[in-house]
Amino acid sequence: MAREIRRGKGKLDIDMVRVREAWARQAEGKGLIGGDPRRRPRWVHPIPEEPAPWFRLGQSSPEHRERLVRFLEEAPAEIEIGAGSGHFIADWARKHPERHFLVFEVRWKFARKVYRKTVEKGLTNVWVSDDDARVTIPEVVPDESIDVFHILMPDPWWRPKHQARRIFSPWFIDVLARKLQPGGIVRFETDVEGYPEFVEALFAEHPAFAPHDPALAERFADAHPTLRQQWCIEHGIPIFKRYFRKVG
Ligand SMILES: C[S@@+](CC[C@H](N)C(=O)[O-])C[C@H]1O[C@@H](n2cnc3c(N)ncnc32)[C@H](O)[C@@H]1O
Repeated sequence: MAREIRRGKGKLDIDMVRVREAWARQAEGKGLIGGDPRRRPRWVHPIPEEPAPWFRLGQSSPEHRERLVRFLEEAPAEIEIGAGSGHFIADWARKHPERHFLVFEVRWKFARKVYRKTVEKGLTNVWVSDDDARVTIPEVVPDESIDVFHILMPDPWWRPKHQARRIFSPWFIDVLARKLQPGGIVRFETDVEGYPEFVEALFAEHPAFAPHDPALAERFADAHPTLRQQWCIEHGIPIFKRYFRKVG
C-alpha cells in the first residue's frame, strides 16, 4: 500500500462550473464509485454470511438491515468514510469499546482488510460496508443517530471529469446534517492544499453547522494516524484538520 501513495498535484484547482454540474446529478447516483451496490457481483466480491457485521445495500437481508440500524441506535455511533486499510478505525474502536462504528470503504479488498482486522482483534463494535457511502448513508442510517463522521484524507479526484466522485458537495453536507445528532461533529483531515478552504466554504453555506472549531481537535488528540497520514508525517507533509459541529 505504501508504494501506492502519491502526492498528486499538491494544490486543488476547482472549476466551479464543472463542480456544480456534477453536484446537480450526485443525488441521482452520478459518479458512484464501485457502481450501484445492489448490482455488485457477489461471486466476484463475496461478503461474509449474515449475521456477520458487513452490510451491502440491496444484498443484505431486511433483517440484517434492521440489525445494523439497532446497532447504530443502541450506543453513541461514529462513521468513517474511506477507511483504506483501517489503521485509524481498528485502534479507535479498541480505545472506545462503549461506542459503535460503521466503516465505509468502497474498495472491496480494503474493506475486507478492515473486516479481517476487526475480527482478528476481537472487536465487536464495528460494522463494515463496501458500498459507496453516499448511497447507503442517506438510505439506511437513521436521522440524528450519528455522533461523529470521520472523513480522513479523502481522494481529491484531481481530474475535472471525476469531480462527481468527491465526497464533499452541498447535497452530501445536507445528508451529514440530517444524520448527525445535534452537537455531532464532522472531522475532516487532508494533505491537499486548497481542499480545507473549499470544504469550509461549503459548510459555511449550510445553516446546521458552526464554523470550523480548532478546539475540537483535542477530542481526537490520541487518534492513530491513517496509513496516508503516517506517510505524510514521514515525508514532512502538513495535514490540515477541520472540525464542524452541528448546532441546534
Ligand atoms: C485517499 S484514500 C485514504 C484512505 C485512508 N483514509 C488513509 O488516509 O489512508 C481514500 C479512500 O476512500 C475510499 N472512498 C472514496 N470515496 C468513497 C465513498 N464515497 N464511499 C466509501 N469509500 C470511499 C477510497 O476507496 C479510498 O480507499
